[in-house]
Amino acid sequence: MATRIAAEHDLPACSELRARWRDRFSALISADQGWCPAGTPVPRLETEELVRAHLLGTSEERWAVVSEDHGTVRGYLLCGSDGERRQMSVICQGPRVAEPADLATVGSELLSFALGERARRGLVRAEAFVHGPTVEIGPLAALYRQCGFRTPSSDPRLEMIRPRSLPLAEGRPVSLRTAPEVGLDAFLEADAAVRGCSVNEARENLAFSQRMWIVDPAVDWMVAHEKGDLVGVVETAVTKQGVGVIDHLEVREAYRGRGYGSALLAQALSRFRSRSEFVWLDTDRDCVAARRLYERAGFAVHHEHGTLSAEVLA
Ligand SMILES: CC(C)(COP(=O)(O)OP(=O)(O)OC[C@H]1O[C@@H](n2cnc3c(N)ncnc32)[C@H](O)[C@@H]1OP(=O)(O)O)[C@@H](O)C(=O)NCCC(=O)NCCS
Repeated sequence: MATRIAAEHDLPACSELRARWRDRFSALISADQGWCPAGTPVPRLETEELVRAHLLGTSEERWAVVSEDHGTVRGYLLCGSDGERRQMSVICQGPRVAEPADLATVGSELLSFALGERARRGLVRAEAFVHGPTVEIGPLAALYRQCGFRTPSSDPRLEMIRPRSLPLAEGRPVSLRTAPEVGLDAFLEADAAVRGCSVNEARENLAFSQRMWIVDPAVDWMVAHEKGDLVGVVETAVTKQGVGVIDHLEVREAYRGRGYGSALLAQALSRFRSRSEFVWLDTDRDCVAARRLYERAGFAVHHEHGTLSAEVLA
């Protein structure tokens, strides 16, 4: 097997590989779930134009690596260089799913070669963004880790969805009041107390949500109290494409494990009634309580995303 910088004449072979991986993805993910509420198609597959631009190597910033076996191209990596940040980015990678043997051998050859090229170009960092079904992300992340990449503690993130129509018991009674009902300032104070952050940070979080989603404070931002005690917050929204979002759900530490999380989630979900077909959220892969809560409420992992990065390698 030989690995080298790709050239224009590799384009037909790379296009053929790309089409093959796309077909395998389509078989893995049913068509009606092929969306990502964050606005990225799932899986994030490179376009034909992107492959072409990297293979033509028209600029120092875009280049590609191919691996071939007896003259047959088996995989490719599309890379980018950012001289200012002295960073290499892996933009797209193959082989993809359903070829575990190739992933281990061809994949690690491609990555090792690209990392060598990174050093040759004087780049000290490497980064890769992964986005796709769990079946792919697990082995892919393992491969990157083997090559020296590290996963930030909160990555990869699990993106979970659930049909709105799924029934869910309301559970423990809890009194939820919206942001206008308690007043926006009081809402932010409560949000900060639950999250353990400053009111300013809580305000910034909400501003971020407003930029990301369609938010109706009279419906979407709620504070939970029981017998006058602050218990938790739940913040929901709807995407521009009309998908319900559990933007943030948190129960104060002292109240956890007593059914409040389930009750807040049930009430939040009931607010989506006429607004969206699906409800989406993302959560840390390692957050056991949240995963349990969401799985019990009928959420299933749709796909994962995350950034893997490597600092100066030896
Ligand atoms: C996730 C969170 C909201 C759950 O709230 P909660 O009030 O503890 O939830 P509940 O008491 O309703 O429990 C929900 C399920 O999680 C399980 N659970 C709760 N704490 C758990 C823990 N520490 N470990 C494992 N499972 C746990 C419960 O057993 C329950 O499952 P079950 O009904 O099958 O027994 C809460 O832990 C929290 O605020 N965590 C920090 C913020 C966070 O991670 N938010 C979600 C980010 S998207």
